[in-house]
Amino acid sequence: MTEEVRAGAATGTVVRTDDGWPVSPSRVPTSVDRTMSRLPRARVVVLSVVVLVLVACAAYFGWDRGVGPVESVAAPTAKPSPTPGPPALRDLMPPNVRIGSAVNGQMLASDARYRETLSSQFNAVTSENAMKWTILEPKRGVYDWSASDQFVDFAKANGQAVYGHTLLWHSNTPVWVTESWSPEQLRAVLKQHITTVVSRYRGKIWAWDVVNEVLAEDGSLRDSLWLRKLGPRYIADAFRWAHEADPDARLFINDYGTEGRTRKADGLLRLVKELRAGGAPVHGVGFQSHIRLGAPPKDAAGNLRRFAALGVSVAITELDVRIPLPVTTQKLLDQALLYQHMLKACLAVATCESVTLWGFTDVSSWIGSHYPGYGAACVFDEEFAPKPAHGALAQELSARKSASPN
Ligand code: G3I
Repeated sequence: MTEEVRAGAATGTVVRTDDGWPVSPSRVPTSVDRTMSRLPRARVVVLSVVVLVLVACAAYFGWDRGVGPVESVAAPTAKPSPTPGPPALRDLMPPNVRIGSAVNGQMLASDARYRETLSSQFNAVTSENAMKWTILEPKRGVYDWSASDQFVDFAKANGQAVYGHTLLWHSNTPVWVTESWSPEQLRAVLKQHITTVVSRYRGKIWAWDVVNEVLAEDGSLRDSLWLRKLGPRYIADAFRWAHEADPDARLFINDYGTEGRTRKADGLLRLVKELRAGGAPVHGVGFQSHIRLGAPPKDAAGNLRRFAALGVSVAITELDVRIPLPVTTQKLLDQALLYQHMLKACLAVATCESVTLWGFTDVSSWIGSHYPGYGAACVFDEEFAPKPAHGALAQELSARKSASPN
């Protein structure tokens, strides 16, 4: 049966089944229509629901038990599993040894990948520049804590121990600290700076580089403003002031060119013995370990051991391995072995507290600007992709972990 209908301005014809079911004009009533029209409305609704449920179940539980093409329908729901990132060094380290990295303040503030890799890989961090005197106290008594606070807050938020670098150095001393002052004035300024900085971060810092690079290459004390004006006692004083300001912080003396058996390392050994004999609270010795490819430190583990024998902790504090450019696969493999070598040296000494890399990505390494012709010194490349060096560290740690799972 057909009839004329009106909707708004539109008009049209509707075809209905015998008992009035409207069907589209283009479609002659079928046997289904006729069947449906004989069924009570409620039963039709129930029936439709049952059919729908059945179809859904079929789709969900899978027609694919040999029913073929339906399978493809289910695929879109399965999210592709994210490609697993590189093994996290921090999860592979033995419990009593930390793996750290120097943190570049600009990258920390501006780069999400930098933050992601830093937090996932390392359980310790050292401020590359944010805690140096020139940055913290640019004018006498005027402190700028912004970069160092941001660094410490990030570490706390990511369960990372903080290694403060550095309270006293011959470099990066602000211009207002000058030679023209009397020793008493200079000593007061130095004490004020150390006490102020250490007190601010009391309880938030695992360790401090109290003094950095106080030795000359021959192992004698480096000629500096501090030595000239205050005499050799300035080192012990700095340790005492830091200890008074935070008795729980581990206090380190840090230097470079001492990571192997060298005259400078011999001089450092003598100095640490003297300082401790004089009662200075020197808890640890930091070995920077800025290594050139092809020039591994002589007997790194034995050197660490002889310092540990003095009753102090030892730490690799600024490890990087600079490559003479261009980079080649062989050089990357050699670099990996050197990184692994220094890790093994630390793990061979019971009181080695940490291995810290001086930056983890080539995109923010200091090497390029300080060693022309060298580069690629870190374990991640400029795109934050792990290099063979990262693999070598992870491999060494995994092997040890599986060898002694407890
Ligand atoms: O932030 C300023 C920027 O505003 C300015 O435009 C730019 C141009 O001069 O300088 C920037 O400051 C630079 C700073 O790094 C931050 O990038 C300083 O000039 C530059 O001297 C400083 O270099 C640092 C160097 O110590 C001197 O403090 C390196 O990043 C840092 O890796 C290096 O680290 C030292 C350790 O503290 C001690 N052991 C050796 C190690 C390598 O030299």
